[in-house]
Amino acid sequence: MSKRDQIINTLSADTKLISEKINELRNNNEQYFVLNGRKKTYHVLTYGCQMNEHDSEKIAGILNSIGYEESDNDKNSDLIIFNTCLVRENAELKFFGKLGAVKELKKNRPDMLIAVCGCMMQNDEIRQKVLNKYRFVDIIFGTNTIQELPELIYNVEINKNKSVEIIDNSELIYENMPKQRKFNYKALVNITYGCNNFCTYCIVPYVRGREKSREPQEIINEVKLLAEDGCKEITLLGQNVNSYGTTFEEKFTFSDLLYELNKIDGIERIRFMTSHPKDLSDDLITAIKELKKVCNHVHLPVQAGSNNVLKSMNRKYTKEHYLTLVEKLRKEIPDVAITTDIIVGFPGETEEDFLETIDLVEKSEYDSAFTFLYSVREGTIAAKMENQIPEDVKHDRFDRLLNVLYPIGLKKNETCIGKTYSVLVESVSKNANEYLTGRTEHFRLVHFKGDESLLGKIVNVKINSAKTFHMEGELV
Ligand code: 5AD
Ligand code: SF4
Repeated sequence: MSKRDQIINTLSADTKLISEKINELRNNNEQYFVLNGRKKTYHVLTYGCQMNEHDSEKIAGILNSIGYEESDNDKNSDLIIFNTCLVRENAELKFFGKLGAVKELKKNRPDMLIAVCGCMMQNDEIRQKVLNKYRFVDIIFGTNTIQELPELIYNVEINKNKSVEIIDNSELIYENMPKQRKFNYKALVNITYGCNNFCTYCIVPYVRGREKSREPQEIINEVKLLAEDGCKEITLLGQNVNSYGTTFEEKFTFSDLLYELNKIDGIERIRFMTSHPKDLSDDLITAIKELKKVCNHVHLPVQAGSNNVLKSMNRKYTKEHYLTLVEKLRKEIPDVAITTDIIVGFPGETEEDFLETIDLVEKSEYDSAFTFLYSVREGTIAAKMENQIPEDVKHDRFDRLLNVLYPIGLKKNETCIGKTYSVLVESVSKNANEYLTGRTEHFRLVHFKGDESLLGKIVNVKINSAKTFHMEGELV
């Protein structure tokens, strides 16, 4: 019997036991409601990327299904869950800061449950640190054990045991988990999990495991259900969407998936992230060009412009190859928006290397970019490299990079003045209530006057003025 079949057998034997526990928890929570006139509440704090955002939607879905209710703050919650990120030190520090504050909350409310999950908990050392130094944490689970949450809560509430579950069954994909999505008009949809690329700076392959693709039919079914519920925009998520399907026996690529999803009535926009430049195929460029619903926006992280640095990062492409891709994208899809991720201060990065990044940015003319200071991640190859760059040099390069990126972003937005774009209305402006905010298919942010009834609708907006990070316009 294969390891996968063994796991599936064990799981089905466990299923009955788990559903009994879920029922008991649900009954307890119903009783709680009758006695207290309110449901037990939870609050999820999410750090990091969209993958984590979506995992938090699954956590919320599971908690709702066992009778909890979401609370918009941690202070009066019965259960606080930290969904952590390990990609950069910043997110790690923020999490520990907040965890310390929650310790004080729990002192006054000992019955409050504290759970920690996500990428940080996949790391043995950090998990041990939480177990040893933050003893008030009741539940710990990993990125691939979200479905165990009811059982973990059961262990704490009924058996009064601290609960930890990190089993590494990362070759399995759990389908049909309930999801409490944040928005009904746009949705995140996983297509691959994990990563096989081992870029030398990145911790993701160590914590999220090997890459695996969801079956096409599972994705298609999920998107059909979303469309029936009124969803207009989907964002397909994977660490490298371009390698979707490489493990399937029958050939079925990412562009094949896009052609299938494009057929689903009701869905009007299809986005995806992230595309690894080494795998961006001509087929994908054709799909973006041909398929009406696939947005003309490609997020194509370059990370650095110097071939020495790219090699040392194990990115498997050169500056020249990347620029050829950008040129091809712009030629085939004339109004395409290209965004990127850039790291400055990677070990060994010289001033000349950095200037190669600046040169690449000028040539690529990005619509926008996420920029990062290189952050040492223990356990990665780059963490052991000599020639780590001093913090002041990193900061200086970071500022100089922004000084080049911002005017390009502004120039790109200015080219939209006078034109009309379809905009998906996403929120009411925090500062001025009569203003709405939405995005064009190119992911450009637009503010315009309008009323709340337009939320979740796609409207036409004429652009009147442009700033570096957004544009202003009027409904037409
Ligand atoms: N330091 C800085 N940035 C990093 N990223 C990943 N790992 C690190 C690191 N150690 C950035 C990359 C990636 C994005 C999601 O996070 O740019 O594309
Ligand atoms: Fe990290 Fe590279 Fe994988 Fe992206 S492709 S998750 S940067 S290892």
